[in-house]
Amino acid sequence: MKPIQIAIDGPAAAGKSTIAKIVAEKLGYVYIDTGAMYRAITLKALTEKINLASNEEAGKLLQKTEIDLQPSEDGQLVFLDKKDVTEAIRSQHVTKAVSQMAAHELVRLRMVELQQQLAEGRGVVMDGRDIGTHVLPSAALKVFMSASVEERARRRFEENKNRDILTPLEELQAEIAMRDKMDSERKVAPLRKAEDAIFLDTTNLTIDQAAGEILKLAEERL
Ligand code: C5P
Repeated sequence: MKPIQIAIDGPAAAGKSTIAKIVAEKLGYVYIDTGAMYRAITLKALTEKINLASNEEAGKLLQKTEIDLQPSEDGQLVFLDKKDVTEAIRSQHVTKAVSQMAAHELVRLRMVELQQQLAEGRGVVMDGRDIGTHVLPSAALKVFMSASVEERARRRFEENKNRDILTPLEELQAEIAMRDKMDSERKVAPLRKAEDAIFLDTTNLTIDQAAGEILKLAEERL
């Protein structure tokens, strides 16, 4: 069977990565979390204290930056200039700044190029905001996954607890809503459902049910 490309997009904390990981594992495909790449460059921008509002400064920073994703048992390891930043990129500090960095055209051009290279000629499940619309426009399966903002904040709260991040629920909800607004309103490749994407509301679905829905859709396309 020829491997296919599966694009999963949607707003923040909709469960995309958890579900994408399960789908990739079941199909024996590579899982690629593109948000991690935007988070990695944001971590470097914060560390180097560049002007986060500047497209040019962000572009220059990327030229001297190496971002590498490697599959791991838990899904994916993220390396920034050869250093493992898998945990560091999940901090609230990075989360609050990432949408500003991700809006820059020079950042997106480079990321999309890297993501297309990673997906080339193999079975992949890639999650992000612009995968179905820009990164893999001819993916065999596109899913746009969402859930109510309350439910998404609740899920992120639970996930954070396991990482010892104790941001209050209300703050998480406000941060998620703000990120969605910035990601949907930016000029370059905003968060959108691709016309040919299937909408999946996971508000009342368990993780296994949502993964099962996507696997069913994938099998129809194999
Ligand atoms: O998926 P995650 O929530 O980790 O993504 C972090 C941020 O990276 C998003 O809020 C968005 O600003 C950006 N992003 C993006 N395009 C993608 C993936 C993530 O702009 N394909």
